[in-house]
Amino acid sequence: MRVPLFATSLERYHDRLGQRIAGVVRSGRYILGPEVEAFERDFAAYLGVRHVVGVGNGTDALTIALRASGVGEGDEVICPSLTFYATAEAIVNAGATPVFCDVDLATLCITPETVRPHLGRASKAIVPVHVFGNIAPVRELRELGLPVIEDAAQAAGGSLHGVRAGALGDAATFSFFPSKNLPCLGDGGAIATDSGEIAEWARLLRFHGSRDKHTYSEVGYNSRLDAIQAAVLGVLLPELDGWNAARRNVASQYERAGLGEFVRLPVPTPGAEHAYHLYVVRTAESDALASALADVGIAARRYYATPVHRQVPMLRFADRDLPATDEIARSNLALPMGTDLGEQEILGVVEACATAVSLASP
Ligand SMILES: Cc1ncc(COP(=O)(O)O)c(C=O)c1O
Repeated sequence: MRVPLFATSLERYHDRLGQRIAGVVRSGRYILGPEVEAFERDFAAYLGVRHVVGVGNGTDALTIALRASGVGEGDEVICPSLTFYATAEAIVNAGATPVFCDVDLATLCITPETVRPHLGRASKAIVPVHVFGNIAPVRELRELGLPVIEDAAQAAGGSLHGVRAGALGDAATFSFFPSKNLPCLGDGGAIATDSGEIAEWARLLRFHGSRDKHTYSEVGYNSRLDAIQAAVLGVLLPELDGWNAARRNVASQYERAGLGEFVRLPVPTPGAEHAYHLYVVRTAESDALASALADVGIAARRYYATPVHRQVPMLRFADRDLPATDEIARSNLALPMGTDLGEQEILGVVEACATAVSLASP
């Protein structure tokens, strides 16, 4: 048996993608233009926000969203350390200081309780991460009184109390990296917001800080969503809900097959429709389990084994212990997840976990 960690294939969309890309090639409209505008409009409608601004990738989306929200030099931005490096990198590149906070041991997301000890006079914004596709409690975080910018890179299509990830905060950012729930065929990203002001500033920043291509009012970026990638996203966006339903079905099959007897299962935030970008379980023996699974052809991987606050360029910002983050960094394991994972493969993963755990503790 060979079971990949990311069990999703776009093969059945190749013809439609090829035709839509050919349309862009023929049109000669390669920078912004109708495909980008159409995707921005459709994704905004899907999320339930007023504005979507397409940018080059999810990292630029965060940097630009932070600057467009008024974050800059001298400001502190509270974020988790249990995330992809880009979350904090974007805060630094926006000129601000990341303040790392801990996460909830069950949901793996930041909460008002984990953020509160880090609030101070310089606090300017909070960046919760919907890590692995679980949704952070954004409404409660907003009650702390600071702007909240969701890092929704891993949670396209997820929701909390019926509101989509991306429509919960003051602004939100997405990545369309090929392994994400809503992928494109290269790099791509977007900013979502209800605020006309943030959207306008983001449009300015993604285009060198210029409105007219002749005069410049900001030092910005060259970071636009590529027209070909927008065309790809136009084909794939209508599939997102079906794909996420398939992911949730995989999660419930793992559960029904008894995986919870051998490892701790993911815990969705109350009220959340988890997007299951990754299916991350917990076990004290995560490396041993990963290698036992590898022996029988099943891919599994520990994520954020060195959390962001322990990465060398971030050590200067890491002034507090984050015990839950360190514990999760030691004990997590992502098991195969995707839209094309079959029942036999799911049962095979559970059986292999059962065997590995019973061998480890006879
Ligand atoms: C949580 C998180 N934030 C930000 C990013 C950055 O996105 P990108 O790789 O498109 O720059 C990613 C994805 O890789 C991510 O997982």
